[in-house]
Amino acid sequence: MGNILVCDDERSICELLDIALRRDGHKVETVTNGELAKRKIDSALFDVIVTDIKMPGVDGVDVLRHAHQISPDSAVILMTAVDDYEAAVQAVKAGGATDYIRKSPGLVDEVKLAIARSLTKVSLSRQNFALRRDAATRNSLDNIVGVSPALEKLKQTIRTVATTSSTILVYGESGTGKELVARAVHTCSPRAAEAFVSVNCGAFPETLLESELFGYVKGAFTGATQNRRGLFEVADQGTIFLDEISEMTMPMQVKLLRVLQERTVRPVGGTSEIPVDVRVIAATNRDLDRQVAEGTFREDLYYRLSVIPIRVPALRERREDVPLLANHFLKKYAPGAGKSIHSVAAASLEALTSYDWPGNVRQLENTIERAVALETTSELRVELPAERPKARAVAAGAETATNTAMNTTLNTTMTVAAGSVLPEGVNMENYVAQIERSLLQSALAQTHGVQVRAADVLGISYRSFRHLMKKYEL
Ligand SMILES: Nc1ncnc2c1ncn2[C@@H]1O[C@H](COP(=O)(O)OP(=O)(O)OP(=O)(O)O)[C@@H](O)[C@H]1O
Ligand SMILES: [Mg+2]
Repeated sequence: MGNILVCDDERSICELLDIALRRDGHKVETVTNGELAKRKIDSALFDVIVTDIKMPGVDGVDVLRHAHQISPDSAVILMTAVDDYEAAVQAVKAGGATDYIRKSPGLVDEVKLAIARSLTKVSLSRQNFALRRDAATRNSLDNIVGVSPALEKLKQTIRTVATTSSTILVYGESGTGKELVARAVHTCSPRAAEAFVSVNCGAFPETLLESELFGYVKGAFTGATQNRRGLFEVADQGTIFLDEISEMTMPMQVKLLRVLQERTVRPVGGTSEIPVDVRVIAATNRDLDRQVAEGTFREDLYYRLSVIPIRVPALRERREDVPLLANHFLKKYAPGAGKSIHSVAAASLEALTSYDWPGNVRQLENTIERAVALETTSELRVELPAERPKARAVAAGAETATNTAMNTTLNTTMTVAAGSVLPEGVNMENYVAQIERSLLQSALAQTHGVQVRAADVLGISYRSFRHLMKKYEL
């Protein structure tokens, strides 16, 4: 049975239909003018809207247009007297109205019949929507390549949690696929048709992050020449992905906690709260537990975020996925590079499978992309560093030059020990900069470009690392 809105300026017709339709088990609301009908449409979802065409003020065609705009899934049935028959025909032809009925002594029966027809259509279109969503779900989970038990379990978790709106914390090493998981949760959820907004919390200085997330009003700070909506508002009804959440400063953590508790945001410089309906998915490759213990991450926010914790396993914990992923990336990159490479060489596949992958799937993807670019035959051969880079003092191959440079620099540093004679014209700032730069390069080489690890190697925060990368244009 349906949820029906009846609109007619003749009260007797409203009453007649109200009684008859209720008797059939429908839920009915009646209004006696077009303006009220529009307001009802704004505030509730009707399966079918039955409206008279000719009414003073806002007429039936206006109601139809409004319904079309606000509630496109609702069916609209127009009721006409003889003299406005043409208008109804036009409305149906234009595709706006589902049906029309001429007012006659048999009105009640005709309306019932038209409603029954519309409800079948509505339920069909809902089924279609559900089917489309099913397909989307399958597709988005298909993007997560892998057949290991660990990955199957991960996909099952995604399916289960997608139906809820609970906050999720995705954690795991760098490059394991955390963003992929977050996107899959969104696409499998009832929010799939709405926005998925991804924000890298480590990429903004504090004040900028605040205005990015919550928006600002004109005049809030120099350069704020107009009001701007924040990303929470952009993500309204959808999902916001807060990547690298561990990089958020303490004051921002307090503000985010408030948003999660109140479900409202306050733009920078604004005085009122804006309600938002957003699913929050946060991600980190850091040990938040440890940060909480060290006092750099708020415990209350940690609990708020990790309502549903999802761990993405490292690639070395699911080696059976490596061949599948290698072939997946081969198919992804070969056509673009204009190569017809049909497979990965058996020996390479073996080497790939036994490698440790400190940079996880992203590193594997980069490795395959590079190998594809270099391959001249129809079989892909992949060169890998001989050992896990972390265990080695000096990284392999192409990085040697950088490391030599570093060693030289460090040796020079040693020679400039306390009490020694300084070289002529020494410039301390440049000198230190030179050392910093080569330390960054070496750390990057050693970690195969995995920035988070490089920061770890150097014992500095990821934020500082990014800052230095920018400074030295690396
Ligand atoms: N199971 C998978 N199947 C296919 N591609 C994957 C898979 N896991 C990761 N990838 C790919 O690897 C790359 C890295 O994934 P993603 O950006 O989701 O990792 P991440 O965990 O968010 O990394 P970081 O911690 O560095 O931000 C992406 O290009 C992604 O498409
Ligand atoms: Mg990521």
